[in-house]
Amino acid sequence: MFSFWRKHSLPEDFFQGAHDIHCHLLPGVDDGFPSMEKSLQALKKLEERGVKRMILTPHFMNIYPNNNRESISAEFESFQAEVNKVCQIELRLAGEYMLEGGFMEHFGEGFLTLDKAGTHVLCETSYLMYELNYTNMLYDIMCEELQPVIAHPERYEYANTDVYLRWKDKRYKFQLNLLSLAGVYGEPALVKAHYLLNEGLYDYIGSDMHSLDNFRRFLPEIRLKKNEIDALEQLLENNKTLFD
Ligand SMILES: [Fe+2]
Repeated sequence: MFSFWRKHSLPEDFFQGAHDIHCHLLPGVDDGFPSMEKSLQALKKLEERGVKRMILTPHFMNIYPNNNRESISAEFESFQAEVNKVCQIELRLAGEYMLEGGFMEHFGEGFLTLDKAGTHVLCETSYLMYELNYTNMLYDIMCEELQPVIAHPERYEYANTDVYLRWKDKRYKFQLNLLSLAGVYGEPALVKAHYLLNEGLYDYIGSDMHSLDNFRRFLPEIRLKKNEIDALEQLLENNKTLFD
């Protein structure tokens, strides 16, 4: 009768057919995977676990001034050619855009979006500080029929229930980082991730993988109630809609 409260690991087949929509596998362009070799090794391992499709989302932020639509697209093409030789995972290119000074420049050159229709833009903010500018920038892009997807809202230290509800009221979509549920980003992010998951406020799920070793090391730390596992599986289903 108490099974509702029992905590479980992720099911063995959790990644079977999975579509990841947030990762830093494109080598050598940000703080993610450092080399082609490491990225290809990771893709082969992920394919063995059943991962089917991945959206690569390199950082577009001021500390990587060389990352722009043209340069990253060229990097992706070279990478894709090597990937084709070793695995079948289908890759797509998008970006993770920091809400800061350069954001509107990237808007001007055209965002690399999560979906084929070219509407869903993965956005992140500073972890520490809330700025009014965030909503101003997102308002501007929504006026152009774009859909903000807020990356890992559970990780922002300034964010509380009021902020989350205000953002949902503005129709932003939320993407959970899976490892937030392993406590990788600290206790507050873990607590917020459980809250957002149980309230049904997430729309998508991503690995935000920067290294395969880190990802594999912390996955076993995840403990979830049955209804939370069901919710994660629904988020994986939602991810697929971005590939249609
Ligand atoms: Fe990321």
